[in-house]
Amino acid sequence: MKLFKTILTASTFLGAAAAVHATELEVTHWWTSGGEAAAVAEFAKAFDATGNKWVDGAIAGGGGTARPVMISRITGGDPMAATQFNHGRQAEELVEAGLMRDLTEVAEKEGWKDIIRPASLLESCTLDGKVYCVPVNIHSQQWLWLSNKAFEDAGVPVPTNWEEFAAAAPALEEAGKIPLAMGQQPWQTTLAFQVLLVALAGPDAYTKIFGEQDAELAASPEITKVFEAADQARSMSADSDVQDWNQATNLVITGEAGGQIMGDWAQGEFQVAGQVAGEDYTCLPGLGVNEVIMTGGDAFYFPVIDDPEVSAAQDQLASVMLSPETQVAFNLKKGSLPVRSDVDLEAVNDCMRKGLDILDQGNIIQSPDQLMSADSLVQINDLFVQFFNDPNMSAEAAQNTFVQLIENAD
Ligand code: BGC
Repeated sequence: MKLFKTILTASTFLGAAAAVHATELEVTHWWTSGGEAAAVAEFAKAFDATGNKWVDGAIAGGGGTARPVMISRITGGDPMAATQFNHGRQAEELVEAGLMRDLTEVAEKEGWKDIIRPASLLESCTLDGKVYCVPVNIHSQQWLWLSNKAFEDAGVPVPTNWEEFAAAAPALEEAGKIPLAMGQQPWQTTLAFQVLLVALAGPDAYTKIFGEQDAELAASPEITKVFEAADQARSMSADSDVQDWNQATNLVITGEAGGQIMGDWAQGEFQVAGQVAGEDYTCLPGLGVNEVIMTGGDAFYFPVIDDPEVSAAQDQLASVMLSPETQVAFNLKKGSLPVRSDVDLEAVNDCMRKGLDILDQGNIIQSPDQLMSADSLVQINDLFVQFFNDPNMSAEAAQNTFVQLIENAD
């Protein structure tokens, strides 16, 4: 497949009379919902303005579907010119195999070390002192999104924390609502579980379990509480028979469901639907229990392609993605926070403001991808999925398996 080509074009950006070589770069990502598509269009626009051409390679079905496709194209000798991964260790083996471009030169020239915050984002892109990716946003998963209308219809106040939310479930059901909207794709189940763990057991316990493989803590009563809450979440979402995360968000937008545990990319959907934070919907970071955010998100990697023009265009794309203007335009639509603090954030909504405040206070944790190897994480995530899909699996049995997996994780 021909993935990129150089074409001769008149660039209005570089001056009307100048004819320059425009390089087409195919960029893969899994941003296909309304809010995501609006955000990625900002990257395409900014890159095209350099005189090059963004060739959109959206892969539907979420990260769980997209990542294996991306990886097999890169390892199979059919690389795209740039690709999304989450911050962390998802691309580690590709970097180790020498398949990803070293961006150290552009990173040093542009002083990424000084502008990217928190430092852990650039560290996740760095292997043996070399930079292999460009972090483009800070996305956190630790949020509960609530439909103000659903609670009004049910005649109960909008909850301020997880406990109140769980207590409101019977009233919501009575009013014909699904208490908890949840898509059926496996990553959504694991996300909900991880969010419950961070919120209810606290950030320190989470970091010890995922980062230090503390199996004793995993077996403690503190974590039993988390498995019990997951059990509640399982019953509260029993009637939520949608697949994609944005379909679940839509149930909240329309007031058919009370809430959804989802990353802050859900904000993109509320915005596209014209809903206003605080009026139509409410967001509770850390489920209203532990106000903490995970500084994960998205980073772009640039597979090695033996063509100097492609390399030059890859450098330009990396640079454009971090430019102050693109950072603001992209992140406002995406619902994520910019990775640089020296940009104009006047236009952020109430929920993004909460996220920024939490970030400023330094209440941050790393993502499981940053703390644990991909192989260990797959096994733990599989357990969470199994638990949510099998109502006969008890919270106790699930916790026991969890402890064993943590013992053997790296
Ligand atoms: C990505 C987000 C994306 C979400 C849902 C996450 O892994 O970090 O950018 O919006 O998946 O597609």
